[in-house]
Amino acid sequence: MSIHIGAKEGEVANTVLLPGDPLRAKYIAENFLSDVKCYNEIRGMYGYTGNYKGKRVSVQGTGMGIPSISIYVNELIESYNVKNLIRIGTCGSMQPDVNIRDVIFAMSSSTDSAINKIRFNGMDYAPTASFKLLKKAYDAAISMGINVKVGNVLSSDTFYNDDKDSWRLWAKFGVLAVEMETAGLYTLAAKYGVDALTILTVSDSLVTGHATSAEERQKTFNDMIEIALNIAE
Ligand code: HPA
Repeated sequence: MSIHIGAKEGEVANTVLLPGDPLRAKYIAENFLSDVKCYNEIRGMYGYTGNYKGKRVSVQGTGMGIPSISIYVNELIESYNVKNLIRIGTCGSMQPDVNIRDVIFAMSSSTDSAINKIRFNGMDYAPTASFKLLKKAYDAAISMGINVKVGNVLSSDTFYNDDKDSWRLWAKFGVLAVEMETAGLYTLAAKYGVDALTILTVSDSLVTGHATSAEERQKTFNDMIEIALNIAE
């Protein structure tokens, strides 16, 4: 057991899918995995291990934001020896050609979080995806006929901003979309020498103000889950 994860040694697989919402972890376990065991209920942050096409895979909720995902990622790596961490989440588009329901692979992550500023004594670190997972995911998406966009995302510490237009600066520099976790995930994966990738579905657009319905979100979420499960090792 670690502080926030109640699994026994060996109960977490080498590859863990990381949805922010613990109920998504439950949904994935119930609809995509067989022989499922729930290994964590602490704080309602469900974690499950099961089988997908003969592979052992885990799914662990992370909560929202860099502090919350960092707790789970630290413990998964340090206490459970996890080697591949695949975040699956939603994001808000910052580009006119990134549409609602599009799938994005985060090649890198910018951030307004101070966590890395503090960690690197005021200097900048560039949180980057695992090329191994990114290449596998890209190849899987192409073979599944799913159109994806690959690029830089913003991991923001705030969902609600005082300045409604603050995202435009990042957009000008080509950032595709905003979410709240990837910079933390990629930095910790690099620190521990393991592989990480973020796969996102666009749930809303800061450009147009449109948002997906719950039903639409579910369908595109399924595409993203299948990509993630197909690249699990
Ligand atoms: N901001 C931050 N995170 C998000 C958003 C957003 O607009 N949409 C989905 N996740």
